[in-house]
Amino acid sequence: MTQKSYFTAIFPGSFDPITMGHLDIIRRASDLFPKLIVAVADPLHKKTMFDLDERIRLVRESVVGIPNVEVQGFTGLLVDFAQKVGARAIIRGLRAVSDFEYEFKMAWMNRRMYPQIETIFLIPSEEYAYLASSLVKEIAFLGKDVDGLVPPPVAEKIRETILGKYKDTRGPSLEVDG
Ligand code: PNS
Repeated sequence: MTQKSYFTAIFPGSFDPITMGHLDIIRRASDLFPKLIVAVADPLHKKTMFDLDERIRLVRESVVGIPNVEVQGFTGLLVDFAQKVGARAIIRGLRAVSDFEYEFKMAWMNRRMYPQIETIFLIPSEEYAYLASSLVKEIAFLGKDVDGLVPPPVAEKIRETILGKYKDTRGPSLEVDG
């Protein structure tokens, strides 16, 4: 990379939990921008496996050593958060055509609310093209190891959570997500 663009970018998501696919996008974006804020959302309509503080902590532990990266939680509208931190770009990962419709709607809506913001799509490595937090949770609940699909501190936390909090339940919501 010769010259980095001069503006801050944000990479928003639920990160419930952060996966190797998210980390791949974070590495790519941190190489492009002088500052990348990973923005962990408190989703309005989703029940998450991990609460906001846990998700922020897991993202922080996962990005140790990646330059230019900061992790922050946010509530409310993403564009308000972007404006507050002075970000000019929203980074989103695109895995497959099936992601496209949802991502387009969000990008247009965010542009309508904050015309100065650009949404930039990055694609992960091929090996992560099928990876989604929802699948990770599902296979973990059904008893398979998730090592290699999520960063090591996350795999450990999932094991601990399934053995503890969700021991006698059918698990958290497994909605389709990033
Ligand atoms: O990882 P996800 O769940 O696909 O991320 C979706 C997220 C958190 C980026 C999106 O739901 C969001 O921006 N939430 C904040 C509230 C908001 O701004 N909603 C309007 C989006 S157009």
